[in-house]
Amino acid sequence: MVTAVAQRLLSQRKQVDDTLAHFSLNRDQLRVVRDKMRVELERGLRKDSHSSASVKMLPAFVFQTPDGTERGKYLALDLGGTNFRVLVVKIRSGIRKSVRMYNKIYAIPHEIMQGTGEELFDHIVHCISDFLDYMGMKNTRLPLGFTFSFPCRQTGIDKGSLVSWTKGFKATDCEDHDVVDMLRDAIKRRNEFDLDIVAVVNDTVGTMMTCAYEDSKCEIGLIAGTGSNVCYMEDMRNIETVEGDEGQMCVNTEWGGFGENGCIEDIRTKFDREVDEGSLNSGKQRFEKMTSGMYLGEIVRQILIDLTKRGLLFRGRITEPLKTRGIFETKFLSQIERFISTYTLIIALMHLQSLGSTCDDSIIVKEVCGAVSHRAAQLCGAGMAAIVEKIRENRGLEHLEITVGVDGTLYKLHPHFSRVLKDTVRDLAPKCTVSFVLSEDGSGKGAALITAVARRYCDKRRQEWLKLRIDKYLYSMRFSDETLLEIMSRFRRELEKGLSQDTNPTATVKMLPTFVRSIPDGTEKGDFIALDLGGSNFRILRVKVSHEKKQTVQMETEIYDTPEDIIHGSGTRLFDHVAECLGDFMEKHKIKDKKLPVGFTFSFPCAQTKLDEGILLTWTKRFKASGVEGMDVVKLLNKAIKKRGVRFTDIMAVVNDTVGTMMTCGFDDHRCEVGIIIGTGTNACYMEEMRHIELVEGDEGRMCINTEWGAFGDDGMLEDIRTDFDRDIDRGSLNPGKQLFEKMVSGMYMGELVRLILVKMAREGLLFEGRITPELLTKGKFETKHISAIEKSKEGLSKAKEILARLGVEPSADDCIAVQHVCAIVSFRSASLVAATLAAILTRLKDNKHVPRLKTTVGIDGSLYKMHPQYARRLHKTVRRLVPECDVRFLLSESGSGKGAAMVTAWAYRLCGDAQQNLRHSSGDHAGNGRGGESMEV
Ligand code: G6P
Ligand code: G6P
Ligand code: BGC
Ligand code: BGC
Repeated sequence: MVTAVAQRLLSQRKQVDDTLAHFSLNRDQLRVVRDKMRVELERGLRKDSHSSASVKMLPAFVFQTPDGTERGKYLALDLGGTNFRVLVVKIRSGIRKSVRMYNKIYAIPHEIMQGTGEELFDHIVHCISDFLDYMGMKNTRLPLGFTFSFPCRQTGIDKGSLVSWTKGFKATDCEDHDVVDMLRDAIKRRNEFDLDIVAVVNDTVGTMMTCAYEDSKCEIGLIAGTGSNVCYMEDMRNIETVEGDEGQMCVNTEWGGFGENGCIEDIRTKFDREVDEGSLNSGKQRFEKMTSGMYLGEIVRQILIDLTKRGLLFRGRITEPLKTRGIFETKFLSQIERFISTYTLIIALMHLQSLGSTCDDSIIVKEVCGAVSHRAAQLCGAGMAAIVEKIRENRGLEHLEITVGVDGTLYKLHPHFSRVLKDTVRDLAPKCTVSFVLSEDGSGKGAALITAVARRYCDKRRQEWLKLRIDKYLYSMRFSDETLLEIMSRFRRELEKGLSQDTNPTATVKMLPTFVRSIPDGTEKGDFIALDLGGSNFRILRVKVSHEKKQTVQMETEIYDTPEDIIHGSGTRLFDHVAECLGDFMEKHKIKDKKLPVGFTFSFPCAQTKLDEGILLTWTKRFKASGVEGMDVVKLLNKAIKKRGVRFTDIMAVVNDTVGTMMTCGFDDHRCEVGIIIGTGTNACYMEEMRHIELVEGDEGRMCINTEWGAFGDDGMLEDIRTDFDRDIDRGSLNPGKQLFEKMVSGMYMGELVRLILVKMAREGLLFEGRITPELLTKGKFETKHISAIEKSKEGLSKAKEILARLGVEPSADDCIAVQHVCAIVSFRSASLVAATLAAILTRLKDNKHVPRLKTTVGIDGSLYKMHPQYARRLHKTVRRLVPECDVRFLLSESGSGKGAAMVTAWAYRLCGDAQQNLRHSSGDHAGNGRGGESMEV
C-alpha cells in the first residue's frame, strides 16, 4: 500500500519534473540563444536584412547621454508600463545639479487601451489637462518628452510611427501613424493648452538616460517589466538604416520580437505557444512572451492547467480562477517565490483566488513559478551577453566595463530574477564586466533629459541654420583672408603713393607729416594744458609731468559739451566755444594766472609744416563748421582765446588723436611706433623713415606720419567690396564721397549700417515678421553702442530684445539671434578691414627696418575698440594671421590722447625754451616768456 502511494507520488513528481524540464536551459542552449540574438542584432542593423529581422534595431535619434549641463523645466508623459504617469521635471545644472520631479499616476481603462486611437489620445490629453490644472501650469508652454513604450520607427527625435502595439494595448488606427502627430491632434482637439513636443522616447532609452545622468558608463537600458526590451549606444557606422558614419546613436533593439522568424522554436514550449495564441498579438513578441511580466504568470497558469488536467495538481479540479486569463500578475509570481514557509505560501495561494489548497500543491506551484521566472532571467541574460559582446567588439576592446540601467516591475519585485540575469551575463560574456543600476526615477526623468539634450541640439542647429542664412544674405560683407591680403597690398600701395611728392596730390591717403620725430624718452616735464577735440568727447586736461626719481604724470580732466548747432555753425562760434570752455577750465582749476603751454589734440586731417600749425583739409565725422577748412586751426584758436582775454603761454603743438595716442602709449612702452583710433572715426599714424617722406626736407631719422586712412577708397579703390548699404550711408552723410573706408569701419557709421540692413531684411520678410516701425526707419536710432551690447556673449540676446523693443518691434527669439548675427558680421567686417590696413603699415615698418621679424607695439584708442566685447580679440587675431612675421603688442591707451599731446607740448616747449635762451644769449633780450617765431619740431 505504502509502495503504491510512494510510486504514485514518485510518478507524479516525475511528471511534474518532466514538464518543468522544458524550462530548464543548460549553458550550451543559452550560448545558442546568445549567438542567435547576436545574428538578429546584426540583421536588424543592416540595410539589406533590416526589414526581415525579428529584432528591429530601431534608431532612437539620441546621440549622446546627458553630460550634466542639461537644465530647464519639462513636462513628461510615461505611457506603456504598468502605470501611466504625467510629470513635471525640473533640471538644474552646474554646482546645484539636481533633478526634481512631480508626478501623478492615471489609470488607462481597459476599454480605452483597446478602443480607438482617438479615444486613447483624448484620454491622455485629458490626464495632462488635469495634471496642468493640479500644478497650476496651464498657461506655461512647456517642452514635452513623451515616453512611449512601444516599438516606433523614428525619423527624428520628435517623429515616430508606431510599428505595432504590444503588451495590453490594441487601440485602432494607431499602427503606422506618427504618435507625436496623434498627440498634437488631440491637444488641438481639446484646445485648452499648448505644448511643445520635443521628443518621443522608448522606455529603455528613458531608463538609460536616467541612469547615465548619474553614471556616465551607462550606455545600455534594460526593461524587465510588463514588457521586455533593451537599448544601447551603437556606432553610427554600424547603423546602415540611418545616414552618417560619425559618432554614436542609441538603438532601441525591440528584442521582444526575437524569435518571430522561428529561430528559437527549439526552446519554446507548448505553453509558450498557448500563451502566444491567447494574446492580443499572436505570433509576435515571442521572446517578450517568454521573458516579461505580462506573460510569465500566463505561462504559469497554462502549466498549472496542464498539471491539473493530468491530475497532478489541485486534485484534478480546475477552478474558475484558474481558467481566468491574466489571473497571474507579475507581482503574484514574485510574491509566491518570495514566501519561504509552505504555510504562508498556502495562505497566500488561497488568498490569491483560492488557487492552492494543499501543501503539495503549493510546493508545485512555487516550483512552476520558479522554473518559468528562472528561464526568463536566463534568456534575458543570454540576450544581454550578446549586446555587451557586440559593444566590446565595436570598440575593439579586450575587456569592456559597462553599466546597464534597468527598470521594470519584474526586475524590481522578483526575488531572484536580477541575480539569475547577472549570473548568466557573467557566464556568457566573460570578457565584460557589467554593472546593473536600478533606475529609481522611472524613464520620465530620462525623457526630460533627452528633451533637454534635444532642445539644446535643436537650438544649436536652428541657430546655425539662421546664421547661415544671414551669412548668405550678407555674403558681400564677409571677407576671406585672400581678400584681406589683397586689401592690405592695395593699402600698402596707397601709403607709398601718399609719401611720394609726385603722386601725393592725387593720393587719397594723405600721409600727413606731423613733425613729431620721436616718442617720449622719459625726460619730459612741466605743467600743461591739453585740449582734446574731435572724438565723442571734448575734453580739457591739465597734465603735470614731474621728474622726481621717476617720471610721473598727474591729470585733471573736464568734459565739455559740443552741441550740434555749434559744430555745424560758423568756425568762429566753434572756436569761441572752445576758448570759453578753456576759460572755464582755468577758472575751475584756479590756474587763471598761470600761463601754461597748450597742446591741442585736433582729430581731423590737418596739413602741417610745423608742429604749431594745422591747416584743416576737410571736416570729418560729425563736424561741419563753416570757414575752417583751409585755415590754420591754431591761429583760429589763438584768436578766439585772445579775444576772451585768457592768459596763457601759447598753443605749442597741434596733434592728431592718433599721434596723441601713440605718444601716450609710447610713454609706457618705448617700442610703440604706431597709433590707431577705432572710435567715432578711424585713423592711424606710424613712424616713417625721413628718407621716404618726400614732402619734408631731410633724410635723417624718422617722423610720425598721420596716414588719414579713413579716406582710403575715396578714389574708387574699394568699390568691389563696398555694398549698397555703404553707399546709402555715404549718401546720407555730412561728407558724401569722402572718408569711404572710415564709413565702412568706424563707430559713427556702424550702428547706422546695421539699421539699414535690418530695415531691408524686415522689408523682405526676413525679420520681425515683415513689420517695420517708424523708429526703425529713423536715422541714428540704432547706435554702435547697441552693437556692443548685443554682441555680449552672456546677456547679448536679452539686450537685443530690449533694444529692438525700444525700436517698437516685438522680436521673436529667432529675430534676436538674427540681429545679433547681423551685428557680428558688421563689426567683424570692420575689425577685418582695420586688420588689413594695419597689417600693411606693419609690413612697411618691417621692410623699413630690414628685419626678418618685426617686434613692435601699436597704441590704440577709440570707443569702438574699447567697448565692443569681441572687437579687440578679432582684430588681434586677424592681424596675427595676415602678418605672421610680426610680433605685435596692442597697447590700449588708458588716458586718451591728451597725455600724448602734453608730451609733444613738453618737447615743443623745451625746444622753444632752448631757442629763446639762444636768442636771449645772442640778442641780450630778457623780456617775457613768450615763444620765438621759429617753427618747431619734436
Ligand atoms: C519605467 C518607466 C515605464 C516603463 C516601466 C517598465 O518605470 O517609467 O515607462 O514602461 O519602467 O516597467 P513596468 O513593469 O511598469 O512595465
Ligand atoms: C582718445 C582721444 C580722443 C580721440 C578718441 C577717439 O580718447 O583722447 O581725442 O578722438 O580717443 O575715440 P572716440 O571713440 O571718442 O572717437
Ligand atoms: C515594447 C517595447 C518596450 C517594452 C518594455 C515592449 O512590449 O515593444 O518598446 O520597451 O515593452 O516596456
Ligand atoms: C579723422 C582723423 C582722426 C580719426 C579718429 C577721422 O575722421 O579724419 O584725423 O584721427 O577720425 O578720430
